[in-house]
Amino acid sequence: MSNPGHAICFILDGKTIEVNDIPPTTTLLQYLRESLGRSGTKEGCAEGDCGACTVVVGEPANGSIAYRAVNSCIRFLPTLDGKEVVTVESLRAAAGDLHPVQQAMVDCHGSQCGFCTPGFVMSLFGLYLNQPAATRDEVIDALAGNLCRCTGYRPIVDAGCKMNDYPPPAHWSRDDAQSAARRERLQSIQRKDSLALGTPAGFLAPQTLAELASAYAAAPGSLLLAGSTDIGLWVTKQMRELPPIIYLGEVAELKTIRETGGMLEIGAAVRLTEAYDAIVKHYPMLAELGNRFASPPIRNAGTLCGNLANGSPIGDSMPVLIALGASVELRCGDRTRTLPLEKLYLGYQKKDLAAGEFLTAVRIPLPQPGCTVASYKIAKRYDQDISAVCGGYALTISDGMVTAARIAYGGMAAIPQRAARTETALIGQPWNEATVAAAMQQIAADYTPLSDMRASAAYRLQVAANLLQRFYLEHSGAAIASRIEMVAAD
Ligand SMILES: Cc1cc2nc3c(=O)[nH]c(=O)nc-3n(C[C@H](O)[C@H](O)[C@H](O)COP(=O)(O)OP(=O)(O)OC[C@H]3O[C@@H](n4cnc5c(N)ncnc54)[C@H](O)[C@@H]3O)c2cc1C
Ligand code: FES
Ligand code: FES
Repeated sequence: MSNPGHAICFILDGKTIEVNDIPPTTTLLQYLRESLGRSGTKEGCAEGDCGACTVVVGEPANGSIAYRAVNSCIRFLPTLDGKEVVTVESLRAAAGDLHPVQQAMVDCHGSQCGFCTPGFVMSLFGLYLNQPAATRDEVIDALAGNLCRCTGYRPIVDAGCKMNDYPPPAHWSRDDAQSAARRERLQSIQRKDSLALGTPAGFLAPQTLAELASAYAAAPGSLLLAGSTDIGLWVTKQMRELPPIIYLGEVAELKTIRETGGMLEIGAAVRLTEAYDAIVKHYPMLAELGNRFASPPIRNAGTLCGNLANGSPIGDSMPVLIALGASVELRCGDRTRTLPLEKLYLGYQKKDLAAGEFLTAVRIPLPQPGCTVASYKIAKRYDQDISAVCGGYALTISDGMVTAARIAYGGMAAIPQRAARTETALIGQPWNEATVAAAMQQIAADYTPLSDMRASAAYRLQVAANLLQRFYLEHSGAAIASRIEMVAAD
C-alpha cells in the first residue's frame, strides 16, 4: 500500500494504523491510551520530564531503520506519519516471553510500583537496539530522562548492564528490528505528497524547502513546528489552542549536516542528538553541555535550531554558539539572509524575524588555532534540568596575551547576551590571575539579572564571575582540579 494523502499512517506491531479526523495536537500518548487502549505507556508529568511515557520511534535512515526513544506525551500524532511506533506492549513475544530488557528488570529487581517501569524499559530498549555493548556510563546517560520514586536507580542501572547478557530473542532482537519485512513495511507507508490535515490545512508537513517557505510566507500566522519539545508543553501544560501548524520535520534539505567554507552547518530539522554529536566532534570540550541538555528522549525529538529560534534566556545552546561567532541562515519566501546569532535576539521573546521568516540552518565556525572554547552549565541537578546560568567562552591567547575574547551568558538577562565589558577587560591584557580578577569585576556592569525560583540575582552575578575564573583555572596551564569527578563504585 502507499500512504494516502489525508490520513496519518504509522506502523504498530506490524500493522498499519491509519488515523483520520483527529485534532493535530493530539499527542501520541493520548492516542495510544485513549484510542488504542494501550495503557502500558503512562502519563506522569505530561511535559517531557519524567519519562513514564517513553516509546521508541523508528524511521527510515539510509536503507535501515533508525530507532530512538522519545517522550510520547509531547509528541503530536501527525508527526508520526511514515514512522514505526514501538510501545512496551510491543516487546512481549507471541508466546509471552519477556524481552531481555524486561527479563533483566525482573532479575535485577528494577521494578516496584511499576508506574515508571514501562518508560525505563523503553529507554533501555532504545539503548539495546543501538548499543550492543553499552557501558555502565552509557546506561546511566540513557536513563537521564526517567524518574523513579521507589526502587532507587541502582537495580535499574544493573538491569541495563545485564540486558545484553541474555541470548537474542526472536522478537525484537537487533536483527529482527532491521529485518527486510520491517524495512519493507515501513517503506510502504512513505508518502510522495505532503501530509495536509483539515480544510484549510490545520496541519501541513511540506516535503521540500521551497514548499515550506511558500506555505509559511502565505500564512505567516501559522505556527512552525519542529521537535515540539517546547510547543508540546504549550498544549499539555498551558492548554493553548494553536493556530494552523506547519511542520518542518519532513523537509529533506533541512535534515543535513555539512562542513562548508570553514563552517559546520546544521539544518533546522536536525535533532539535538545529531547536532551535538557533530559539534562535539569538532569541540570535544562541549560533550558535557550536550549530555546535560535535557535527556536523550528530548534530544531525540528537539532540534538545535528550535532551541535557537525559541531563544529562551536560559537556553543552553546560545551562549557558546554566540561565543563561537555562529550565524543563522534565514528564509522568507524566496529571500534568504544570514544573521549573526547574537543579533537574532532583540528583547525577551522578541526576535529579528519578519512575518513568515524562519531559520533554515545554523553555521558554526570550525575550531581556530589558538582559540580555547568552553561552556559551563549551572543547574540544581546534573541531568535533565534547566540552567540558572550558562556561560560560553572563546578566548584566543597568544604569547601569554589575550588577543580575542568572546563571552556570552544565558540566565543573566532577558536574552542570551555577550559580556561586552568583561571581554574588553580581557583583550590586550596578559592571561593571568590579575587580569581575570579585574574582568570578573565587570560582570556586574554587564548584567542586571533577575531573581527567580532558579537563583537569586546575587547568586547569578557571583556564579557568572566564578565561571570565568574556572575557565582561567582550567586553561592557565596549572594542574588545578576544578570539578568533582564521579568515581565508579566497585
Ligand atoms: C523536559 C525538557 C527538558 C529540557 N531541557 C532543556 C535544557 O536542558 N536546555 C535547553 O536549552 N532547553 C531545554 N529544553 C527546551 C527544548 O528542548 C529546546 O528549546 C528545543 O531545542 C526546542 O526545539 P524543538 O525542535 O523541540 O522546537 P519546537 O518546540 O518545535 O519549537 C520551539 C519554538 O521555535 C520555533 N521554531 C522551531 N524551529 C524553527 C525554525 N527553524 N525557524 C523559526 N522558528 C522555529 C517554533 O515555532 C517555536 O516557537 C527542555 C525541554 C523539555 C521539555
Ligand atoms: S509523561 Fe512525563 S515525560 Fe511524558
Ligand atoms: S518503581 Fe518507579 S516509580 Fe515506582
